[in-house]
Amino acid sequence: MKVINYGSLNWDYVYQVPHMVREGETLAAYGMETFLGGKGLNQSIALARAGVPVLHGGCVGEDGDGLISYLKTNGVDTSGIEKVEEKSGHTIIQVDSNGQNCILLYGGANQKQNIDHIKTVLNQGNSGDYLVLQNEVNEIEYIMQIGKERGMRLVINPSPIDPAILKAPLGMADYLLVNEIEGQALTGASEPDQMMKTLRTRYPNTAILLTLGEEGAWYEDRKQSVRQKAIRVKAVDTTAAGDTFTGYFIAGLMEGYAMEHLLYRCAAASALAVSRNGASASIPQREEVETFLRSLDV
Ligand code: RIB
Repeated sequence: MKVINYGSLNWDYVYQVPHMVREGETLAAYGMETFLGGKGLNQSIALARAGVPVLHGGCVGEDGDGLISYLKTNGVDTSGIEKVEEKSGHTIIQVDSNGQNCILLYGGANQKQNIDHIKTVLNQGNSGDYLVLQNEVNEIEYIMQIGKERGMRLVINPSPIDPAILKAPLGMADYLLVNEIEGQALTGASEPDQMMKTLRTRYPNTAILLTLGEEGAWYEDRKQSVRQKAIRVKAVDTTAAGDTFTGYFIAGLMEGYAMEHLLYRCAAASALAVSRNGASASIPQREEVETFLRSLDV
């Protein structure tokens, strides 16, 4: 069993700011670093660091060699990444003194997926393999359809939310992973109870994972409903905390953990991620998560 993660790869330009810049304001940043990110890349790194085989599909531009070699160094199969004539995707991320962020995204090469390349990548997927998707590449619905035709298990993290993803057939997913903002956009509800109820009613064959930041996470399918509190740490930078949760969640499914234990591991992994700077740079290795879990047990 393996994972094909078809998703974005971005250069993240991260600025430390006293507060998020306001309309009309010019604000001096007191720090700046370049990180490797993109929800797709981050989730591939999280999957690999959690210990599962992952093949990444997607596109970069001529400036994308560093993104590819970083994935390779982390043990990700990069044979599904194509170079196209565009700049690679990039973001401008502000991180404030509370560790909260806001992100401006330029899609670039991530928006240049073509049908032939998608087919070539997904031809490597077999029945029972996992196909993971976020919403930072084009042709999402086509990728979903081909994955399903190949009998793959579909995990969709519809992030970031935009008008197109709101119309996509998300009920095709075996697992739908949303945070509170995405849950609100999909359902119109502002409370997690109502979000979960609406999502479960609308997508009865789809397991729902609702991540709620400091309030933890909530998983529900036909057979079980499991809640997990967040593990409290000092937040330095929340970027990629959700991607870390996603990677460890899928790895946990593949390893067959009981949902209570699985969510506890995910909470530990994302707590470590928020206590560090950067996107993929903040994602912990499996051994670090095990050590942290042991420290919580005593
Ligand atoms: O989820 C975090 C990611 O979102 C960042 O790495 C950035 O590239 C944006 O895509």
